Amino acid sequence: MKIPEVWIHMIRVEDPADQAVVAKFYEADQQHLFADWEQLESSQRRTLLADLHRIDLGFLQQLIHDHLDSDAAQAPIAAPDPPRWITLGDPIRSGVQQQGLEALGRGEVAVLMVAGGVGTRLGHPGPKGAYPLLPISGTTLFQMFAESIRRLQKQLGKNIHWLIMTSPSNHEETVEYFRHNSFHGLPPSEVSILSQHQLPVLDPHRGKILRSEPGRILFGPDGHGGAIRLLQRESTRLREKGIRHIYTHQVDNPLAWIADPELVGLHLANSSQFTSKAVAKTDPEEKVGVFCQVGDRMRVIEYSELAESDRNARDEGGELSFRAGNIATHVIDLDFIAPAEQKTALQLPFHQARKSVRHWCDGRWQQSEKPNSVRFETFIFDVLPLCERSLVVEADRELEFAPVKNGTGVDSPDTSRAALQKLWSRWLIEAGVELTLNEDGIPDRVVEISPLVAGNAAELKRYLVDVELPLEGPILLR
Ligand code: UTP
Repeated sequence: MKIPEVWIHMIRVEDPADQAVVAKFYEADQQHLFADWEQLESSQRRTLLADLHRIDLGFLQQLIHDHLDSDAAQAPIAAPDPPRWITLGDPIRSGVQQQGLEALGRGEVAVLMVAGGVGTRLGHPGPKGAYPLLPISGTTLFQMFAESIRRLQKQLGKNIHWLIMTSPSNHEETVEYFRHNSFHGLPPSEVSILSQHQLPVLDPHRGKILRSEPGRILFGPDGHGGAIRLLQRESTRLREKGIRHIYTHQVDNPLAWIADPELVGLHLANSSQFTSKAVAKTDPEEKVGVFCQVGDRMRVIEYSELAESDRNARDEGGELSFRAGNIATHVIDLDFIAPAEQKTALQLPFHQARKSVRHWCDGRWQQSEKPNSVRFETFIFDVLPLCERSLVVEADRELEFAPVKNGTGVDSPDTSRAALQKLWSRWLIEAGVELTLNEDGIPDRVVEISPLVAGNAAELKRYLVDVELPLEGPILLR
């Protein structure tokens, strides 16, 4: 038998199991990973081999074949229609809140924060949730959410279980953050910090596996759809705790309304399998995915996947037809995504995410402003087309959406802080406090209200009955 050329040059390692794994990577046309083997120190060789053992190469090759090597992934999305959604003034909303509160009070709803992303665009070292967002105290995103949960628990007289999804690249730091900050006052037994899975990151043109440093493979989390697999893994334990529904939100939206009883109530009253919040998009170029109806199923179509004509289409009222923008707050029926009896787990499709990352390839550091890597990710909202019963519920953008995505400019800490200032000053004015606002609705005094104090204008008004505010300077309520 003729020995393939690449095998003749294959590096030799002592351990037969290591040799077998090296051979697999040569066979899969990933031999570039060993091009600088001779220059690596023995510790680097060991870590590189250990990383290679952790890769499911057959699965990765299938992804490369399906997405990078084939044109199938480019197929356009079938003609969408605007979705049916429950708008802000819809009378169906009245009366459901009590049902939501009761389910929360029985401990049937857990909150899941997806925080496994790498946050390339923000560029903050460490987990995005540890970003000190608030203008006076420097309170972090993690602390804001922990305080919201504490307020809710006090109101309900019942603990809410909080799941935090991390990824291998930020898991240890997140756990350490919460330990160091004593879980921001939450009982540690009610906080589960769990990691999603990861996949190797690739060169977008050649499908070559990249390295984060000479002796390490560059891995990336497998998308926020990893939350579905995590919930499937955890489903037995969650059921044992009496949890039946999961309320998910993203770590980078400080206005995400955690465990909104109205959303939970609508979900339950309609026996929905997957219920989502949406805000009305007014700018066709805003880069958020939109909810659409395709056939009899709902789905989210990403900004880049929506045809320009659909993006700009308007209804009789002059509003964008496809305006139900996804803010990634969902209530998910646990039995639907992880049926107790089902043998095979519900599968989500993979998408490509291109990002700019510094990495080691071809014997040198590679860096670029433009995306220079591709990773495979699943998205949580891809559950939607699998649902027979789903709901989309409109939320007020000013109350519920101010994401922190970029370091500067649109959707940055500055815009997010400004949205918080606007909202909190509105609450203060409703409570009778005198504030001067500029033309953008920003107050002349810096304002900060801890989620422990209030989650809406009515709660703030009640709190202020016994509190005297300073007559000038910043207003900090905690
Ligand atoms: P983004 O899509 O904004 O990605 O995530 P990102 O990794 O945080 O940031 P960039 O794109 O590199 O700048 C939206 C939400 O989904 C979570 C993030 O933590 C954020 O809450 N996410 C994303 C995960 O939990 N896991 C992932 O694999 C990806």
